[in-house]
Amino acid sequence: MEIIRSKGLKGELAVPGDKSISHRGIMLGAISDGVTEITNFLQGADCLSTISCFRKMGISIENEGNVVRIHGKGLRGLKEPAEILDAGNSGTTTRLISGILCGQNFSCQLTGDDSIQKRPMNRIITPLRQMGADISSLKGNGCAPLSITGRNLHGIHYASPVASAQVKSCVLLAGLYGDSPTSVTEPYLSRNHTELMLRYFGAEVSSADTTASVQPDPKMTGQHIEVPGDISSAAYFIAAALIVPHSEVLLKNVGINPTRDGILRVCRRMGADITLLNQKDRGGELTADILVKSSDLKGVTIEGEIIPTLIDEIPIIAVLAAHARGTTVIKDAQELKVKESNRIDAVVTEMSRMGASIEGTDDGMIINGGTALCGAAINSRQDHRIAMSFAVAGMTADGVTRIENDECISISYPDFFRDLESLQK
Ligand code: S3P
Repeated sequence: MEIIRSKGLKGELAVPGDKSISHRGIMLGAISDGVTEITNFLQGADCLSTISCFRKMGISIENEGNVVRIHGKGLRGLKEPAEILDAGNSGTTTRLISGILCGQNFSCQLTGDDSIQKRPMNRIITPLRQMGADISSLKGNGCAPLSITGRNLHGIHYASPVASAQVKSCVLLAGLYGDSPTSVTEPYLSRNHTELMLRYFGAEVSSADTTASVQPDPKMTGQHIEVPGDISSAAYFIAAALIVPHSEVLLKNVGINPTRDGILRVCRRMGADITLLNQKDRGGELTADILVKSSDLKGVTIEGEIIPTLIDEIPIIAVLAAHARGTTVIKDAQELKVKESNRIDAVVTEMSRMGASIEGTDDGMIINGGTALCGAAINSRQDHRIAMSFAVAGMTADGVTRIENDECISISYPDFFRDLESLQK
């Protein structure tokens, strides 16, 4: 895809459903009793990988039109898959499903694409083994493919060294199959969709500070889930509207869960003109319409407990920072190195290619804003968030920006370019 300078963005848009919530809806629907109906489900490749894994375990899932219907079989109703489970590019699928698989009464293997096979899985293998699970990395390198033999698990109190919702969720889901309660304490609070949804389905979950606990063997029944728009997808349009002059965009029905809204808080600190309208609570998940107008931005420091609440938005925040007056410093974000690509390296290399003044650090980056960007050929590294972030950067650059391997965008936002085009003046 080739991007040229935009004359301004105007109009309304409903971004697709939240990726994290869509995954969890399939998983909890599958292990609850009765039918779960999901509307505004994200039809991105990652969430389709989750559907495919549960179908292989005997769960009937209808996915036609705008509604996904899952015929749940209860906590112990999954069947041994005849084939290897394939999580594709999805870390959420791999790590969360592993927690469920460890408590089943069958053996299976779980793998994914080249990127997944390089991502660290010891972060789940370690706590799952403490619970008595039989899980191992088949190549012995701490990565997928994983081999899992289900068995009865023990409840644990796990002090996670990383603030990761995937680790927390994996352990809590395994905790459903424990012989006593399970809790996870994280250094900072990560997204809490698993806790909210488990509670919504009838499980007993408590949360205090950065600790979440679950009681084993809950009675969970199918529910209706209306998935909010994904704030991580909205982030590209928020950023585009802020940096492209003469823009005004209304993003409808976006999830603003406080464990995900760091992008909004950072934008406001940078001086962004952002207004939240029409706020609602949908089963514990907060939503709002977000009105964004072009703004003069200033550099900020981003560190500590806010990092997990905007971890997927750091590439697009770096684009904002390149347009801000002064310096932006991003710290405590070493997790970026183990995402779909090494996102510190990807952002620093590709932003430099466009002429930005940016330097990578061990746990983040430093950006001196205000340098005019020039169009460039961008290596997306098959990482959807890198591809979309640089498509936005191209909208203010001189000349043409070409995003290479942009098909990876279908991981989380298949109609991204169509939606971007619909807002062009
Ligand atoms: C996710 C958690 C985050 C995030 C990912 C989705 C989830 O990963 O980066 O895109 O749905 O739980 P970590 O938990 O590894 O930080």
